[in-house]
Amino acid sequence: MSATVRDDVVKTASPLFNPRDPEFIRNPYPTYHRLRRQGSLQWNAAGNHWIATSHAVCASILKDRRFGRRYEAMVENIYGRGMMGETCFRLLGMTMLMQEPPAHTRQRGLVSQVFSARRVGLLRPRVRALVSELLDGLEPRGTMDVIRDFAHILPVTVICDMLGVPEEDRWLFADSATISTRMLDPVPMNALELHEANAMFEEQGAYFTDLFERRRRDPGDDLISALIKVGDEGGLTTDELLANVWLLFAAGHETTRNLIGNGLLALHAQRNALRRLQADPTLIPAAVIELLRYDSPVQYVGRLAFEDVQIGEATIRKNQIVLCLVGAGNRDPAVFPDPDQIRLDRLDNKPLSFGGGIHHCLGAQLTQIEGQEALAGILGRLPGMRLRDADHPSWQPNFAIRGLRTLPASW
Ligand code: HEM
Repeated sequence: MSATVRDDVVKTASPLFNPRDPEFIRNPYPTYHRLRRQGSLQWNAAGNHWIATSHAVCASILKDRRFGRRYEAMVENIYGRGMMGETCFRLLGMTMLMQEPPAHTRQRGLVSQVFSARRVGLLRPRVRALVSELLDGLEPRGTMDVIRDFAHILPVTVICDMLGVPEEDRWLFADSATISTRMLDPVPMNALELHEANAMFEEQGAYFTDLFERRRRDPGDDLISALIKVGDEGGLTTDELLANVWLLFAAGHETTRNLIGNGLLALHAQRNALRRLQADPTLIPAAVIELLRYDSPVQYVGRLAFEDVQIGEATIRKNQIVLCLVGAGNRDPAVFPDPDQIRLDRLDNKPLSFGGGIHHCLGAQLTQIEGQEALAGILGRLPGMRLRDADHPSWQPNFAIRGLRTLPASW
């Protein structure tokens, strides 16, 4: 293990931070700085987990094969025993995201065959055309909610096109974002939230199962048809097919929407960076990486220790959970000078936002294409855009997935 850990590993019985606190949700970064100053690895007794706060320790744990995923244990850690029968946990637990080798290797291998770098790379003209189409519909002087009218529609359209979800069915998924992202927080859902999560998985599960039948009878040039084929040949069970199609759908739009929303909000708060980007659009690819670092759509990634692991002064026991606070690691001044500033000239900029190791985000290339085209479109076509309520933005109440509810704008 290459990470160096400060000696001041803290053990405490009071909560180190409260992921549900509205003030924390509004701006988690002062808390992250405080936590990192306390120590790069700390036992949070109140949550029954460790938290990793520095870039070095997060990066190292994410890659370390002595850590991985055991979803049942993770759910048990939050809810206690006997919850895996709930539809939502059962299905999420079957996605590659929650699997370990050999199941993970098989599932990711099969999905990667169809969700390939080549196929994704070919999408750029389509993404650019979609951005244009969305912006063409706007009045010369007008208003929109950037989240509802742009940042949500773009990735949903892209992933639904790829999967082959017919246009008339896309309304089905309009409100699912908040529910499914709530499931990822390390704090138990209440009874209503659990009910909503189960209902959503049942509804979407029934929808996709029916769509699979239609595609089996009448295959198209889409990911679902291709996945059915490689799945049949390579041994993907019906449940695994469903779980991973759902994962592509869900992972494919909530995070990208938040990359666009969080990124635009941040650029408008730091107008020097905004002006520089407007003056030199060749900086857009670098800006997307920097915005992923500055306000990551994913704030933590969980890992479970498969054996006792010693890191610095800390002994992480077998089956204990570590929350790698990637939002904190991304603002670590040891790696990112001026961490609270957007800088478009960072060298070797490597945020932790896509996780790491065998689970490193499969959609990293796609989301960057979408983020780049979205920024280029908005900055180029709406140079005078102003954000309303930028000082008091309305955040989704979740911790793991960080994003805005709305972002009203005028021009
Ligand atoms: C996994 C972040 C967009 C598909 C992940 C993980 C993170 C992440 C943190 C877990 C990595 C780990 O455990 O180490 C993000 C962010 C995105 C984004 C920040 C956008 C800004 C997308 C898109 C897609 C996608 C557009 C697909 C359409 C996936 C899949 C996995 C994954 C399939 C599971 C990979 C595995 O377990 O092997 N993503 N993601 N993501 N992401 Fe993304």
